[in-house]
Amino acid sequence: MPTVLITGANRGLGLEFARQYAADNWRVIATCRKPTLASKLIQIRGDITILPLDVTDFSAIEATSEILQAEKIDVLLNNAGIYDPNKKGLRKTDFDLWAKMLRINVLAPLKIIESFTPQVTSSDKKMIVSISSLLGSITANDTGGQYAYRSSKAALNSINKSLSVDLAVKGVISIVISPGWVRTDMGGPEAALGPVESVAGIRRVIDSLQLVDNGKFFNFDGSSINW
Ligand SMILES: NC(=O)c1ccc[n+]([C@@H]2O[C@H](COP(=O)([O-])OP(=O)(O)OC[C@H]3O[C@@H](n4cnc5c(N)ncnc54)[C@H](OP(=O)(O)O)[C@@H]3O)[C@@H](O)[C@H]2O)c1
Repeated sequence: MPTVLITGANRGLGLEFARQYAADNWRVIATCRKPTLASKLIQIRGDITILPLDVTDFSAIEATSEILQAEKIDVLLNNAGIYDPNKKGLRKTDFDLWAKMLRINVLAPLKIIESFTPQVTSSDKKMIVSISSLLGSITANDTGGQYAYRSSKAALNSINKSLSVDLAVKGVISIVISPGWVRTDMGGPEAALGPVESVAGIRRVIDSLQLVDNGKFFNFDGSSINW
């Protein structure tokens, strides 16, 4: 069966990805900051390996890649991310939080991709999927604010575009995808979608990916999002 590696798999969308892929008999490599506290993740049955990984720790990313050097990773899922719930406007940006956010939402996904490219290129599916956001779309921004989070996801989108060009020669399909507005700790209780529906939609998109989709920005329902 195929293998998926998920970052931030202890709660929210990452946990749901681990649940659904394990239930579908995939091999799941679930990473999270504190596995011993990941009570819901630990309960998942199936072919699942849980490893500690704080994505801001680049040495740890390299060490984890070493541990997993014999694995073939069909889908590398950059899911871990943070948000500024205060939706701050002009002159109210928390610049320290923004710097932290850029490391988690932007730098870490590229470091993970660079570190795990050998395991992805040796797999059958050769897919890299990074969880972006509609808030990363410059075209769709008609409400302003959210300088930190919007720019972090726009940068992630830009990284994906370069990646899709650079790794095309190796047959890798690399996409960014918005999960919709989802009821997780990040999305809050008022969000429109449950994690089950969002993740099922993203998995359908992943299942249907073709080489022609390389570099695209998708919504969880399979439609395209403008940059
Ligand atoms: N929910 C939404 O409406 C929504 C909308 C658009 C995009 N997204 C994106 O979807 C992804 C998942 O979001 P979510 O809704 O599931 O958020 P969430 O419920 O807040 O979960 C975030 C996950 O990221 C992990 N994480 C944060 N910092 C980390 C670090 N330094 N190292 C490793 N893991 C770290 C968290 O781990 P800890 O428990 O250790 O903090 C947690 O597992 C994110 O990239 C987010 O930007 C979500």
